Formats: sequence, C-alpha cells, structure tokens
Amino acid sequence: MVSTDFSYRLWRHDGTPGELIPLLQSAQEHFGYIPRRAIRYISEVTKTPESKIYGVITFYSQFRLQPMGKNVIRLCTGTACHVANSGMLLDTLQDELGVEVGGTTEDGVFTLFSVACIGCCSLAPVMMVNDDTQGKLTPAATRKIVRKIRRQTLASERQAQATSDAETAPAAD
Ligand code: FES
Repeated sequence: MVSTDFSYRLWRHDGTPGELIPLLQSAQEHFGYIPRRAIRYISEVTKTPESKIYGVITFYSQFRLQPMGKNVIRLCTGTACHVANSGMLLDTLQDELGVEVGGTTEDGVFTLFSVACIGCCSLAPVMMVNDDTQGKLTPAATRKIVRKIRRQTLASERQAQATSDAETAPAAD
C-alpha cells in the first residue's frame, strides 16, 4: 500500500492525475527511490502500462529503482583524477562492492557513483564518502577505507537493533 502522503501528491489541485515525470519525481522524493508499489499505483492512476513506466525510469538517470545505500561513494573521474588513475580505483570499488556505478550493495551499506571534478584536483585521485573527501588514493587505501566504513556501519546497525530489541522486550515479572 502506498502511503497517503505520497498518494495525495499524485493529484493536481483540480483533481486530475499529474503527468508521469512529475509523479515519478514525487515518488522518488518521497521514498528515496521508486518502489514497485509506487509504479503499480502510478500505472493505475495515470492508466499507463507499467512497462512504459519502467521504460521512462530506465531512460532517465535521475530515477532509481533501488534504495540508496547508507553511505554514498562518489568517485571523481574528472580529468586530473583520470590522469591519476581513477579508472583503476573504479575497478577496485566495483570489485570490492560487487556493484556497477549507480548500484547499491546487497547489504545496503554503499551506493557507488562516478562524478565529474569535485574541486580537489590537487588531491587526485579523489573520492567522497558521504561528505568526507579522501584524496591521493591507491587501490589498497580505497579497499581499506571501504572495509572500515562497512565494519562501522554494520556495527552501529547491530547496536541500534540490540537497543530496539531491549526497548521492546516484555518486562520480566
Ligand atoms: S578532477 Fe577529480 S577533483 Fe578535480
């Protein structure tokens, strides 16, 4: 079931269904990606076949069919970074994470993007992990950073789960 908040935004003020692209943008803004249930719903209200909606989603790079990972890696492939071997780092990241550019790891810890110059050319090759800039990278350093962040992310998830379990556990008599 699609949330009422999102459903409400699917309709224009005059009560007619909105256009497909704004509806998809609205879904992505609401969910962070476009889930299958939203596609079904949009198909129903706009009388557009789901296959056509998938076609639109895959045509525009702004749309995502998967949720974003908890950490977003943006590897710079601008000129200075390219010259400093960012291509090798991209291969390293894809191998380490098991995803292509634009993909999210199975455990939801990372999403990988490649981007143009991020303005730190003197540190090339560079990647950003969330808001943190990492420069002068080598493949080994890149793997080390990614593994450390994965360990930290999974540890804090386990901690959050344990806290939530403790809060919801029935009190002992
Ligand atoms: S080209 Fe990579 S930071 Fe400028």
